[in-house]
Amino acid sequence: MAIVNLPDEHKIIRDDAAIRQHLAGIGIGYERWQPAHPVADDAPPEEILAAYAAEIERLKALGGYVTADVIDVSARTSGLEEMLQKFSREHWHDEDEVRFIISGRGLFHIYPKSGPLTAIEVVPGDLLSVPRGTRHWFGLCADRQIRAIRLFQDQAGWVPHYTDSGAEGRYQPVCFGPANIPLSEVVI
Ligand SMILES: [Fe+2]
Repeated sequence: MAIVNLPDEHKIIRDDAAIRQHLAGIGIGYERWQPAHPVADDAPPEEILAAYAAEIERLKALGGYVTADVIDVSARTSGLEEMLQKFSREHWHDEDEVRFIISGRGLFHIYPKSGPLTAIEVVPGDLLSVPRGTRHWFGLCADRQIRAIRLFQDQAGWVPHYTDSGAEGRYQPVCFGPANIPLSEVVI
């Protein structure tokens, strides 16, 4: 389950229902997906896409998405810093940004039209949909690794429109991650 942080309100949301309610309230799509059959995190892209084909097809029909692919980002990715610099400044797109997390984690900051700045730490099993026109930025967590399915309405739509607001500089990117879960929450 994702972890939602509202830094301006000094509030962290970990409860499933509360997370869904908050994200729906700011217009962010959020689902939890299960694969149709077990699939390894490092399986080839076509196996990953096949395991989630039913969910992908359902979302394609709902949102007008035409293609899906698998993206891998890690410390071994060439040009990682340049790539992260593109993601980490506030921007918006002409199409939805839809990501399903297979492994690793990442941190979306969302500046909704109404509602508080919302940081969403996405983890495996999370489907996040950022509607077109929504201001946001993205960064990796300390493990600097994420593998995700992307859905596109039009690949050209990925082009970022930067706001140059400097908003991203006002918020410390904080991932909580498993290491920071209080011991009382750890299931052994
Ligand atoms: Fe984006």
